[in-house]
Order: sequence, then C-alpha cells, then structure tokens
Amino acid sequence: MSPKHDKRDATYNQLEAGTKQARPIQHQHAAEIQAYGKIAKLPIALDEKTCATSTENLNQLLADTMTLRDMYKKHHWQVAGHTFYQLHLLFDKHHGEQDELVDQIAERIQLLGGISLAMAADVAETTMIPRQEAPVQISRLLEAHEMILKEARTMAKQASDAGDDGTNGLLVSDVIRTNELQVWFLAEHLVDVPLVRADQRKAATGGD
Ligand SMILES: [Fe+2]
Repeated sequence: MSPKHDKRDATYNQLEAGTKQARPIQHQHAAEIQAYGKIAKLPIALDEKTCATSTENLNQLLADTMTLRDMYKKHHWQVAGHTFYQLHLLFDKHHGEQDELVDQIAERIQLLGGISLAMAADVAETTMIPRQEAPVQISRLLEAHEMILKEARTMAKQASDAGDDGTNGLLVSDVIRTNELQVWFLAEHLVDVPLVRADQRKAATGGD
C-alpha cells in the first residue's frame, strides 16, 4: 500500500469524530410556544378581541380557499372533452391566483398575532366546501366560489365595523374581486349558445 493510500484510510477513520459539530441535529421535539386560537398580539394598534375575531374568520376563509385552490388543480389534471386545452390552462391560472390568496390570508392571520391553518388534515376538518360524488366540474367550482364570496362579504363588513381596515382591504380588494372575476370566466362556459349559426332552426329550414 502506498503512503498516499495510508493517509486516505486514516482520514476515513476520523470521519465521524471530525464532523460531529457540522452534522444536522434531527428528530428533535420542542415545547409549543403558542396554542392554536390564541393571539400573540403585535403592536399594530388593534385590540386583541378584534385580532382574535379576524383571525378566526380568516382561518375559515383560508381553509375554504385552500380547498378551492386544490380543486382547481384536480380539475386541471382531470378535465376532458373538446374544451380540454382551454380549460386545462384556465384551471391552472385560477389555481395560481387562489394560491396567492392563500398566502395573503395566511400571512394576515400571522400578523394579527394568530396561527394560520396549514396542514391538509386541519383544512379538511375546517372547510365548509363539501366533498361530492362525480360532480360537474364547473358547477362545483361555481358553488365553491359562491360560498367563499358569501363568507368574505360577511367577514369584510365585520372587519370594517371593528376598525380592522387591513383585513377589510384584503377581503374586498383581493379575495372578493379575484373570486368574482374567476366566476365570470367559468360561468360563461355554461351559457348555451349556438357555435356557428345564430338561429339553427331557421338555418336548417332556410326560413327568415
Ligand atoms: Fe400542469
């Protein structure tokens, strides 16, 4: 064995001892620093009760928005038929916009001193959007949008009355407007219009 090889073997033997401090410390457990539903108030000139109410409302909205976001991705994957391509793209666009709303809502909850829902199991327990057996995709999306719009309007008014302008602004300018616009883009797909002839019956008979 060459001297060079000996030197390398020695290095290998020292591997564990020589890297102990640089290794990641895994499988740790820590004590909880804030219970879910409690407010760790920040200096934002809002009282704790207002922060708690807005946080509770926003967590409901967060669970529903996450469900709608994920429904869009599901439909993006599972869409079929002659409008496949345009709906495949539209569903993914709406998914991205809902994902931005999820981030905005969750971060608003955190800055209000609350804890935002995050894990799928918690979202499934909280959302009001029901599971359905083989629903029509666009109808199901429209129903979910309407539920979110209804709750967002109620929450916006409540936030406004309590002086929580930031929450009101997020709900009105972002959540409500984005959902309304997406409803328009979806609902127009369900209008039954003739594809080529304005009046198919007259065209077939040659009448005026
Ligand atoms: Fe995709």
